[in-house]
Amino acid sequence: MATIIRRGQEADLPALRDILNHYILNTVVTFEMVELSLENRKTWFTQFRDEGRYQLMVVEKDEQTVGYAASLRFHQRPAYGPSVMTSIYIHPDHLGEGLGEKVYSALLDNLSAEPEAHRAYGLVVLPNPGSVKLHEKLGFEQAGLLHEGGYKFGKYHDVRIYEHRLGK
Ligand SMILES: CC(C)(COP(=O)(O)OP(=O)(O)OC[C@H]1O[C@@H](n2cnc3c(N)ncnc32)[C@H](O)[C@@H]1OP(=O)(O)O)[C@@H](O)C(=O)NCCC(=O)NCCS
Repeated sequence: MATIIRRGQEADLPALRDILNHYILNTVVTFEMVELSLENRKTWFTQFRDEGRYQLMVVEKDEQTVGYAASLRFHQRPAYGPSVMTSIYIHPDHLGEGLGEKVYSALLDNLSAEPEAHRAYGLVVLPNPGSVKLHEKLGFEQAGLLHEGGYKFGKYHDVRIYEHRLGK
């Protein structure tokens, strides 16, 4: 039952696409609305580096890629550059096994040591008790609420903004 936390590679993309597509099609935890293709994930993957603001960590269990944590551009206006948006998804068969905490902690450790990254923001569509617990456990603080900030599956949804100061 080996669990490995490592950098994401192109070979992980089919598994990561399938995990995310499950949540896109069946839940409101992500505001993506349509299934993503492998080509889309290949383009997404080009933003990540081993250093810098935008990084991708994956968790592998028993040689299967079962989740990821990523830091992404927060906003297109350039002064937002030192702020990143985070994203975390664990395979639905592996929830509550401590994998989210492991992979998200690894990403936050990397960002905390990264001079170019100053703040990390997690946007949590409410209710999402697992994500709320994980963000608060890892040192994120509530920074605001987007009241009915998104619309999916015929309803408006509130979004809580979580901020991690990355020790800076
Ligand atoms: C949110 C998510 C990443 C958490 O990852 P996970 O691997 O299931 O969580 P972990 O096992 O690492 O648990 C971390 C903490 O959260 C708690 N937790 C996990 N799921 C929970 C739930 N559904 N309700 C309440 N607490 C929960 C755990 O008990 C643990 O706290 P503890 O150590 O004090 O007991 C995972 O549930 C997931 O991928 N969900 C679907 C996608 C999603 O919502 N992504 C986030 C979008 S903002």
